[in-house]
Amino acid sequence: MLKIVVCVSGGGTNLQAILDAIDSGKITNTEIMAVISNNSKAYALDRARNHDIPALCMSPKRYPDRAAFNEAFTEKMKELNPDLIVLAGFLVAIPPAMVDAFEGRIINIHPALIPSFCGVGYYGLHVHEKALEYGVKVTGATVHFVDKGMDTGRIISQKAVYVQEGDTPEVLQRRVMEEAEWVLLPQAIDDIANGRIALPEKRV
Ligand code: GAR
Repeated sequence: MLKIVVCVSGGGTNLQAILDAIDSGKITNTEIMAVISNNSKAYALDRARNHDIPALCMSPKRYPDRAAFNEAFTEKMKELNPDLIVLAGFLVAIPPAMVDAFEGRIINIHPALIPSFCGVGYYGLHVHEKALEYGVKVTGATVHFVDKGMDTGRIISQKAVYVQEGDTPEVLQRRVMEEAEWVLLPQAIDDIANGRIALPEKRV
């Protein structure tokens, strides 16, 4: 059984896609140990509680500085000791010490085709604003392993989505979620849980 912790910051539709895929049997061999958010008001936490999954808030605002938050967050993760950490719309940089402790065991969903529209400042709706501003005709989503860079880790899977005439950032965001994110992220978890994507030896 693959034990996962899902980290979220907002609405949690990607978390919901994972929960639905576990319920329907599209993801097998997987248990969500906990959902962690940096934002106590994130609706994603309610989605977790509705599924009787422990929902925790770890906000950088509750610590004197970023170093103290990073240490507490990393310690919490080591205590939980999941097999896999899934960043499902998590908008906080992962502490380098956590990347070291869980090397090759953290995955992220990004709402564009990396290496386009990624890196510092490219998150959430901004990504789609930038894609429309640039005028690309195709965008999409990427699932990748997390390393110490921003959106630089090894790519696991990608799916292209067409931009349509008259798209607003909101409309494009929704299409990318429906056609790409909610498909790719559950699929990647199931592939890892069932050995089709190998993970390195555990360090923690
Ligand atoms: C998703 O589009 C996800 O890809 C994006 O935030 C959104 C969260 O939505 N993540 C990033 O931009 C990370 N760089 P959700 O809370 O409804 O899943």
